[in-house]
Order: sequence, then C-alpha cells, then structure tokens
Amino acid sequence: MAQIVQNTSLIIGACGQIGTELTLALRKAKGASKIIASDIREGGEQLMQSGPFEMVDATDYGAIEDTVIHQDVSEIYLMAAMLSATAEKFPEKAWSLNMKSLLNILNLGKEGKIKKIFWPSSIAVFGPNSPKENTPQQAIMDPTTVYGISKLAGERWCSYYHQKYGVDIRSLRYPGLLSWKTAPGGGTTDYAIEMYHRAVSNGRYSCFLDKDSRLPMMYMDDAIQATLQLMKAPVENIKIRSAYNLAAMNFTPEELAASIKNHIPSFKVDYAPDFRQQIADSWPSSMDDQAARKDWGWAPKFDLVRTTKEMLANIS
Ligand code: SER
Repeated sequence: MAQIVQNTSLIIGACGQIGTELTLALRKAKGASKIIASDIREGGEQLMQSGPFEMVDATDYGAIEDTVIHQDVSEIYLMAAMLSATAEKFPEKAWSLNMKSLLNILNLGKEGKIKKIFWPSSIAVFGPNSPKENTPQQAIMDPTTVYGISKLAGERWCSYYHQKYGVDIRSLRYPGLLSWKTAPGGGTTDYAIEMYHRAVSNGRYSCFLDKDSRLPMMYMDDAIQATLQLMKAPVENIKIRSAYNLAAMNFTPEELAASIKNHIPSFKVDYAPDFRQQIADSWPSSMDDQAARKDWGWAPKFDLVRTTKEMLANIS
C-alpha cells in the first residue's frame, strides 16, 4: 500500500515574535494539522489552540530528529535564536544556541531527512565598513555584534551545505520587524514596537536609541509574505543560498514619533541612548533588495503610514 506523504512543516521557535505569526500564516495556507509548532515553552493562546504543538529544544538534535521521523516532517523553519542586544550580554550562549541549532537542521538536510529549510538572517550581518545606505547584496561584511557574527557564519554554513550537499536552504536578511501579536525579545530594533505601546499606554516614551538612528524596518505581514513567497518559489529561481537582502521602509526614532503624533498629538518622546546605540550605529540605514525582487518577485505592501495605522489600531 502506498504511504500517504504528509508534507508536514515544523516550526522551531514557534512561540517567538516571528514564529507565532509564521505558524498561524502557514496553518491558514496549508491546513493546521500539517504545521507543527515547537518551542521550549508554550506560546500564546491562538498559537496553542490552532494546531499541534511539541516541546522541542533547538539545540537537541535527537529530539528534532525524533519529531521529523515520527511526524513525517519534510520542511523546517528554524526561528529560535538569541537576538542582538541579549546576545551582547551572553556572547558564548548566543553563539552556541544560534550555531548549534542551525547545524542541527542543516545536518538533517544533508542526511536527506528533510527536503527544505528556512532560516532567517538579518541586517546585523553588516558592519561599520559596509556601505550604510542602500547596502548591496554583496558588500564588505564586518559585523561587530555576537548576533551579527553568528548570522554571517550561519549564512556561510547555509551556502556551504547547499554547494557541498545540495541542501535546499533558503534565507532572508530581515530588517527590524514591527508587530503587535507577540512581543519581540532582546533586539535593537525593538525600540520601535515599544514606542507604539508606550504611546498608547502612557503617552510618553524614553527611547534607547538617538533620534536620528536610521534603520531598515518592515511590518510583520510583509516579512511573513516574503517568507512564504521565498519558500514557494521554484528551486531554479533561488540564486542566493546565503541570504537575500529584504527591504520595505527605513526611519529614525524621530520620524516614527512624528508618524505616531499624527494619531496621538500629545505623544512625547525623549532620547536616552544606551549600549544598543553602538549596535544600531554599526548597521545599515537602508537596504538594496533588487535580487529578491528580480529572483522571486518580492514587493512590500506596508510603508510607515500604513504600519502606524495598523499598529495603533491593534494595540489600542
Ligand atoms: N531585529 C533584530 C535585532 O534587533 C535584528 O535582526 O536584534
């Protein structure tokens, strides 16, 4: 009798800021039973109630392999990672989590146990000597953060596993992601989400970045759309096996505050930069995403005006 091929997807780190929305979007697109959420802790109500969940530690190869075999998993989205600001506090822990989890998944690909992998990279792969504006796909990359170093090394591993072992790994360099469903954890671009929340809750915000720190940003819906689109694209369209630059908008804290003031005129912001300023200063202010547009048709839908409207409406 022919075996029924399930084509199940496993999301590792499904309870985080991106993982939650990615899981919900995949369940909507492919059917809830085919999308297994996993993490080291339980997630929000909507995530937990909308489909299967398993406790899986991204650094535990055996546990992931078990799930892959028993649930007929053919595709993994690895969303577990320690982000830039937290990683500066726990450098070796961050390196170990970010690298070990990726190599676990790449090795499952190499052994032919899964068919396709998504792993996010970041604007943090760039550094002080990378061109700051319209940062090209190919540029000097000299990340100064542990997070950035781990993402750049990860990109090289992805490219290596693709070339040597034919692993179908796909990746995007996400900018700062703006969302309201699940709180972000430990990033430098988190200030923007905090600003929306404080504007609504108490009308004041003390920003940990300077007023003119321009960074590339994106609304979560666009990031999820890009991820689904990249994973769906025919294999011959995927020309870059490190990670694609991805862009939608860029703004400074002062510009974000102005866009919020259009809705909440009394909103007040002051600026008290901390250690995260140095991280922000080392990153691009805008990105050139021509390759993503050309290879698999990327086009963002949300600019700052639309994002602010959505964020405030959903937080209120
Ligand atoms: N948003 C991330 C961070 O700030 C960058 O990838 O760490």
